[in-house]
Amino acid sequence: MNKLESPSIRRMFETIAPDYDFLNRLLSLRQDVYWRKAMVRAMSIPKSAVVLDAACGTGDVTLEIIRQKGNGVRTAGIDFSKNMLDLGLEKIRSAGKEDSISFSAADALHPPFRPDTFDAVTIAFGIRNIQDKREVLERFYEVLKPGGQMLVLELTTPENPLFLSAYLLYFQKILPLIGKLVSGDEAAYQYLPDSVLKFPNPAAFAKIMTSAGFTGVRWRYLTLGITTLFSGRKPVHKPGQSN
Ligand SMILES: C[S@@+](CC[C@H](N)C(=O)[O-])C[C@H]1O[C@@H](n2cnc3c(N)ncnc32)[C@H](O)[C@@H]1O
Repeated sequence: MNKLESPSIRRMFETIAPDYDFLNRLLSLRQDVYWRKAMVRAMSIPKSAVVLDAACGTGDVTLEIIRQKGNGVRTAGIDFSKNMLDLGLEKIRSAGKEDSISFSAADALHPPFRPDTFDAVTIAFGIRNIQDKREVLERFYEVLKPGGQMLVLELTTPENPLFLSAYLLYFQKILPLIGKLVSGDEAAYQYLPDSVLKFPNPAAFAKIMTSAGFTGVRWRYLTLGITTLFSGRKPVHKPGQSN
Protein backbone atom coordinates (compact mmCIF):
# COMPACT_ATOMS: atom_id res chain seq x y z
CA MET A 1 0.00 0.00 0.00
CA ASN A 2 1.15 3.48 -0.80
CA LYS A 3 0.70 5.08 2.59
CA LEU A 4 3.62 7.49 2.66
CA GLU A 5 2.67 11.10 3.26
CA SER A 6 4.82 13.93 2.02
CA PRO A 7 7.25 14.29 5.03
CA SER A 8 8.06 10.59 4.89
CA ILE A 9 8.44 10.75 1.11
CA ARG A 10 10.90 13.61 1.55
CA ARG A 11 12.84 11.61 4.15
CA MET A 12 12.86 8.62 1.83
CA PHE A 13 14.46 10.65 -0.98
CA GLU A 14 16.95 12.18 1.47
CA THR A 15 18.02 8.63 2.40
CA ILE A 16 18.27 7.11 -1.07
CA ALA A 17 19.86 10.19 -2.72
CA PRO A 18 23.47 8.84 -2.80
CA ASP A 19 22.43 5.73 -4.78
CA TYR A 20 19.61 7.36 -6.75
CA ASP A 21 21.32 7.94 -10.12
CA PHE A 22 23.13 4.61 -10.11
CA LEU A 23 19.98 2.66 -9.29
CA ASN A 24 17.93 4.57 -11.88
CA ARG A 25 20.34 3.55 -14.64
CA LEU A 26 20.62 -0.02 -13.38
CA LEU A 27 16.94 -0.72 -12.70
CA SER A 28 15.72 0.86 -15.94
CA LEU A 29 18.61 -0.53 -18.03
CA ARG A 30 19.44 3.11 -18.89
CA GLN A 31 15.97 3.68 -20.38
CA ASP A 32 15.58 6.58 -17.92
CA VAL A 33 18.19 8.55 -19.89
CA TYR A 34 16.24 8.03 -23.12
CA TRP A 35 12.91 8.94 -21.42
CA ARG A 36 14.22 12.29 -20.17
CA LYS A 37 15.76 13.07 -23.57
CA ALA A 38 12.39 12.31 -25.20
CA MET A 39 10.62 14.69 -22.83
CA VAL A 40 13.02 17.53 -23.55
CA ARG A 41 12.84 16.85 -27.31
CA ALA A 42 9.06 17.30 -27.06
CA MET A 43 9.53 20.74 -25.48
CA SER A 44 8.95 23.63 -27.86
CA ILE A 45 10.21 26.88 -26.37
CA PRO A 46 11.85 30.11 -27.53
CA LYS A 47 15.70 30.36 -27.53
CA SER A 48 15.77 32.53 -24.42
CA ALA A 49 13.05 30.62 -22.56
CA VAL A 50 12.76 30.23 -18.80
CA VAL A 51 11.85 26.71 -17.67
CA LEU A 52 10.84 25.26 -14.30
CA ASP A 53 11.87 21.67 -13.57
CA ALA A 54 9.76 20.64 -10.57
CA ALA A 55 10.82 17.72 -8.34
CA CYS A 56 14.14 18.02 -10.18
CA GLY A 57 15.98 15.56 -7.92
CA THR A 58 19.64 15.32 -8.93
CA GLY A 59 19.04 17.55 -11.95
CA ASP A 60 19.08 15.12 -14.87
CA VAL A 61 16.16 16.82 -16.65
CA THR A 62 17.45 20.27 -15.75
CA LEU A 63 20.80 19.50 -17.38
CA GLU A 64 19.19 17.84 -20.40
CA ILE A 65 17.16 21.00 -21.05
CA ILE A 66 20.33 23.09 -21.26
CA ARG A 67 22.12 20.44 -23.35
CA GLN A 68 19.33 20.27 -25.93
CA LYS A 69 17.99 23.82 -25.89
CA GLY A 70 21.26 25.73 -25.46
CA ASN A 71 22.81 28.11 -22.96
CA GLY A 72 20.31 30.88 -23.79
CA VAL A 73 17.68 28.99 -21.82
CA ARG A 74 17.46 29.50 -18.04
CA THR A 75 16.21 26.65 -15.90
CA ALA A 76 15.05 26.70 -12.29
CA GLY A 77 15.00 23.37 -10.47
CA ILE A 78 13.01 22.87 -7.29
CA ASP A 79 12.88 19.84 -5.01
CA PHE A 80 12.09 19.34 -1.34
CA SER A 81 15.03 16.98 -0.78
CA LYS A 82 18.22 18.87 0.02
CA ASN A 83 20.39 15.79 -0.46
CA MET A 84 19.06 15.30 -3.99
CA LEU A 85 19.65 19.00 -4.78
CA ASP A 86 23.21 18.90 -3.37
CA LEU A 87 24.07 16.03 -5.71
CA GLY A 88 22.46 17.96 -8.56
CA LEU A 89 24.57 21.02 -7.76
CA GLU A 90 27.76 18.95 -8.02
CA LYS A 91 26.65 17.69 -11.44
CA ILE A 92 25.86 21.22 -12.64
CA ARG A 93 29.24 22.49 -11.46
CA SER A 94 31.14 19.69 -13.15
CA ALA A 95 29.16 20.35 -16.35
CA GLY A 96 30.00 24.08 -16.06
CA LYS A 97 26.32 25.05 -16.29
CA GLU A 98 25.97 27.16 -13.12
CA ASP A 99 25.04 30.24 -15.16
CA SER A 100 22.08 28.52 -16.80
CA ILE A 101 20.62 26.60 -13.86
CA SER A 102 19.49 27.58 -10.37
CA PHE A 103 18.26 25.17 -7.72
CA SER A 104 16.13 25.85 -4.69
CA ALA A 105 14.61 23.73 -1.97
CA ALA A 106 10.84 24.04 -2.30
CA ASP A 107 7.68 21.98 -2.26
CA ALA A 108 6.15 21.63 -5.72
CA LEU A 109 2.80 22.51 -4.13
CA HIS A 110 4.20 25.94 -3.25
CA PRO A 111 6.47 26.95 -6.13
CA PRO A 112 8.21 30.18 -5.04
CA PHE A 113 7.63 32.06 -8.30
CA ARG A 114 5.32 34.77 -9.61
CA PRO A 115 2.40 33.86 -11.88
CA ASP A 116 3.11 33.77 -15.64
CA THR A 117 6.87 33.28 -15.21
CA PHE A 118 7.81 30.17 -17.21
CA ASP A 119 7.70 29.15 -20.88
CA ALA A 120 7.58 25.49 -19.85
CA VAL A 121 7.24 23.42 -16.69
CA THR A 122 8.53 19.85 -16.45
CA ILE A 123 8.07 17.19 -13.81
CA ALA A 124 9.75 13.80 -14.32
CA PHE A 125 8.93 10.84 -12.07
CA GLY A 126 7.77 13.27 -9.40
CA ILE A 127 4.02 13.67 -9.70
CA ARG A 128 3.14 10.15 -8.59
CA ASN A 129 4.63 11.07 -5.19
CA ILE A 130 2.24 14.01 -4.82
CA GLN A 131 -1.18 13.05 -3.59
CA ASP A 132 -3.20 15.96 -4.90
CA LYS A 133 -2.26 15.85 -8.56
CA ARG A 134 -4.83 18.37 -9.67
CA GLU A 135 -3.70 20.90 -7.07
CA VAL A 136 -0.03 20.65 -8.03
CA LEU A 137 -0.94 20.94 -11.71
CA GLU A 138 -2.94 24.08 -10.88
CA ARG A 139 0.16 25.54 -9.19
CA PHE A 140 2.20 24.77 -12.34
CA TYR A 141 -0.53 26.32 -14.49
CA GLU A 142 -0.33 29.54 -12.46
CA VAL A 143 3.44 29.95 -12.89
CA LEU A 144 3.32 29.16 -16.64
CA LYS A 145 3.05 32.05 -19.09
CA PRO A 146 -0.08 31.99 -21.29
CA GLY A 147 0.77 29.59 -24.13
CA GLY A 148 3.40 27.86 -21.96
CA GLN A 149 3.90 24.11 -22.12
CA MET A 150 3.41 21.54 -19.34
CA LEU A 151 5.33 18.27 -19.68
CA VAL A 152 4.89 15.35 -17.31
CA LEU A 153 6.97 12.17 -17.49
CA GLU A 154 5.82 9.34 -15.29
CA LEU A 155 6.23 5.61 -14.83
CA THR A 156 3.00 3.87 -15.83
CA THR A 157 1.66 0.33 -16.01
CA PRO A 158 1.97 -1.27 -19.48
CA GLU A 159 -1.33 -2.39 -20.98
CA ASN A 160 -0.21 -5.33 -23.16
CA PRO A 161 -1.25 -8.37 -21.04
CA LEU A 162 1.65 -10.56 -22.23
CA PHE A 163 4.27 -7.95 -21.46
CA LEU A 164 2.46 -6.95 -18.26
CA SER A 165 3.01 -10.26 -16.47
CA ALA A 166 6.77 -10.27 -17.20
CA TYR A 167 6.95 -6.60 -16.24
CA LEU A 168 5.12 -7.15 -12.94
CA LEU A 169 7.41 -10.04 -12.05
CA TYR A 170 10.41 -7.79 -12.55
CA PHE A 171 8.86 -4.67 -11.04
CA GLN A 172 7.28 -6.20 -7.95
CA LYS A 173 9.74 -8.97 -7.12
CA ILE A 174 13.18 -8.43 -8.68
CA LEU A 175 13.48 -4.64 -8.64
CA PRO A 176 12.74 -4.24 -4.88
CA LEU A 177 15.35 -6.90 -4.16
CA ILE A 178 18.08 -5.15 -6.20
CA GLY A 179 17.05 -1.79 -4.73
CA LYS A 180 17.32 -3.17 -1.21
CA LEU A 181 20.70 -4.81 -1.86
CA VAL A 182 22.24 -1.66 -3.34
CA SER A 183 20.66 1.07 -1.22
CA GLY A 184 19.94 -0.89 1.95
CA ASP A 185 16.48 0.73 1.91
CA GLU A 186 13.83 -1.93 1.51
CA ALA A 187 10.84 0.37 1.96
CA ALA A 188 11.88 2.83 -0.76
CA TYR A 189 12.16 0.18 -3.45
CA GLN A 190 8.92 -1.44 -2.35
CA TYR A 191 7.25 2.00 -2.44
CA LEU A 192 8.37 2.49 -6.07
CA PRO A 193 6.22 -0.29 -7.64
CA ASP A 194 3.37 0.40 -5.21
CA SER A 195 3.23 4.07 -6.16
CA VAL A 196 3.43 3.34 -9.91
CA LEU A 197 0.63 0.77 -9.77
CA LYS A 198 -1.54 3.36 -7.99
CA PHE A 199 -0.87 6.06 -10.58
CA PRO A 200 -3.96 6.77 -12.72
CA ASN A 201 -4.01 5.31 -16.23
CA PRO A 202 -2.96 7.77 -18.97
CA ALA A 203 -6.52 8.70 -20.00
CA ALA A 204 -7.48 9.41 -16.37
CA PHE A 205 -4.33 11.45 -15.74
CA ALA A 206 -4.90 13.42 -18.95
CA LYS A 207 -8.37 14.29 -17.60
CA ILE A 208 -6.79 15.62 -14.40
CA MET A 209 -4.46 17.80 -16.52
CA THR A 210 -7.45 19.10 -18.45
CA SER A 211 -9.37 19.79 -15.23
CA ALA A 212 -6.39 21.84 -14.00
CA GLY A 213 -6.86 24.09 -17.06
CA PHE A 214 -4.47 22.67 -19.67
CA THR A 215 -5.60 22.38 -23.27
CA GLY A 216 -4.50 20.05 -26.08
CA VAL A 217 -3.54 17.41 -23.52
CA ARG A 218 -2.00 14.34 -25.16
CA TRP A 219 0.21 11.48 -24.17
CA ARG A 220 2.73 9.13 -25.74
CA TYR A 221 3.88 5.73 -24.49
CA LEU A 222 7.60 5.16 -24.15
CA THR A 223 9.16 1.67 -23.91
CA LEU A 224 5.84 -0.20 -24.30
CA GLY A 225 4.08 2.02 -21.78
CA ILE A 226 6.51 1.54 -18.88
CA THR A 227 6.69 5.32 -19.01
CA THR A 228 4.26 7.85 -20.43
CA LEU A 229 4.98 11.39 -21.59
CA PHE A 230 2.08 13.83 -21.16
CA SER A 231 1.93 17.33 -22.57
CA GLY A 232 -0.52 20.21 -22.58
CA ARG A 233 -0.57 23.99 -22.78
CA LYS A 234 -1.87 26.87 -20.76
CA PRO A 235 -4.23 28.62 -23.15
CA VAL A 236 -3.13 31.99 -24.50
CA HIS A 237 -6.50 33.43 -23.60
CA LYS A 238 -8.32 32.79 -20.34
CA PRO A 239 -11.34 30.48 -20.72
CA GLY A 240 -14.32 32.61 -21.72
CA GLN A 241 -12.10 35.45 -23.03
CA SER A 242 -12.71 36.08 -26.74
CA ASN A 243 -9.34 37.72 -27.65
C1 LIG B 1 11.85 9.84 -8.52
S1 LIG B 1 12.62 11.37 -8.15
C2 LIG B 1 12.73 12.16 -9.75
C3 LIG B 1 13.86 13.17 -9.82
C4 LIG B 1 14.14 13.75 -11.19
N1 LIG B 1 13.04 14.52 -11.70
C5 LIG B 1 14.57 12.69 -12.17
O1 LIG B 1 14.13 12.74 -13.32
O2 LIG B 1 15.38 11.84 -11.81
C6 LIG B 1 11.31 12.26 -7.39
C7 LIG B 1 11.75 13.56 -6.80
O3 LIG B 1 10.59 14.28 -6.44
C8 LIG B 1 10.87 14.98 -5.24
N2 LIG B 1 9.56 15.33 -4.67
C9 LIG B 1 8.54 14.49 -4.36
N3 LIG B 1 7.49 15.19 -3.90
C10 LIG B 1 7.85 16.50 -3.94
C11 LIG B 1 7.19 17.70 -3.61
N4 LIG B 1 5.94 17.71 -3.13
N5 LIG B 1 7.85 18.86 -3.80
C12 LIG B 1 9.13 18.88 -4.25
N6 LIG B 1 9.81 17.77 -4.58
C13 LIG B 1 9.17 16.58 -4.43
C14 LIG B 1 11.72 14.02 -4.44
O4 LIG B 1 12.46 14.67 -3.43
C15 LIG B 1 12.60 13.43 -5.54
O5 LIG B 1 13.80 14.13 -5.69
